[in-house]
Amino acid sequence: LRIAVLFGGRSTEHDVSVLSATNVMRVLGPQKYDAIPVFVTREGQWLLSSFEDGTLAKPEKGTEVCLVPGGRGRVFAIPAGGPAYELPTIDILFPVLHGLHGEDGSVQGLAEVARVPLAGCGILGSATALDKDIAKQLLKAAGVPVARSTTIHQGTEPSLAALESELGLPLFIKPARQGSSVGVRKIHASQEFEGALTEGFKHDRKLLAEEFVRGREIEFSVLEDTASNLFVSRPGEIVPAESHGFYSYDAKYIDEEGAALKVPAELPPEVEAGMRDMAARAFRAVGCDSLARIDFFLTPDMQFLVNEINTIPGFTDISMYSKAMAASGVSYAEIIDRLVAHGLA
Ligand code: DAL
Ligand code: MG
Repeated sequence: LRIAVLFGGRSTEHDVSVLSATNVMRVLGPQKYDAIPVFVTREGQWLLSSFEDGTLAKPEKGTEVCLVPGGRGRVFAIPAGGPAYELPTIDILFPVLHGLHGEDGSVQGLAEVARVPLAGCGILGSATALDKDIAKQLLKAAGVPVARSTTIHQGTEPSLAALESELGLPLFIKPARQGSSVGVRKIHASQEFEGALTEGFKHDRKLLAEEFVRGREIEFSVLEDTASNLFVSRPGEIVPAESHGFYSYDAKYIDEEGAALKVPAELPPEVEAGMRDMAARAFRAVGCDSLARIDFFLTPDMQFLVNEINTIPGFTDISMYSKAMAASGVSYAEIIDRLVAHGLA
């Protein structure tokens, strides 16, 4: 089975994608699958990559890859300066791209246009889950609790006083469509506000001001089988180091001591059961299929709310998605097999 693995990408989570895809490649090949890595540059070019000695090549220029619309997996290689030639047809496209231009429905739409099976969540769920504003509206409508928030559009920014009276302090300012906490600021006082808006608007035209929820960060992995049944994992907990204040990009990827994952999280059984049900409801509410990681806050009085949904969650073998699945008896290799089977079904 020939699988094209897309990695890198135009989003700010380019480097995270390389880590995730390296793990996917390790598990895919070569006994079981014929995996073709395709590096998506920061500019969005698709280039043929290779996987040698556990490392994915990230060519700056080279042979472009072109998926034929309606071609059912036909792919052409276009070497710089040379004539194009056809590559063996691919059976499934496996995007391991986080954030915009990859986790947002765009590449999923391309798979649809090309008529090639897709591993992972489809167009609708990808697009809605990536937009925290739209996702929250859908979640609320489905009775899934979420943090209170106000959507901020560029040009009509409210005053901090107005936000404070609604949401209290501290509050978060975050881009509507970003992952890995990129561009997220925690506001304690007015002098931080302008800078937070400026930072946020570097990443999106739409921001969210969100109440600060004091609570534990609990996450669940959801995996759909070919008969559309949902498997919801045991809970995992993110325990951020005191010094980081919240689970920021640095805490996630830069500072090795930034956070610890505790899997399974220790929760009263009835709370875990309630959260698992809610994870499945959230998955359906935003139109997901195949997989997603559902992130919650759990307050000291055991109230929980959904913070966000990631349809291409961090995917290394030490990422929460795979750890929570492992704690539920599903290995990393098995996750990949199930994603591929789901895509081909
Ligand atoms: N956006 C990152 C990859 C995650 O949620 O795991
Ligand atoms: Mg997240």
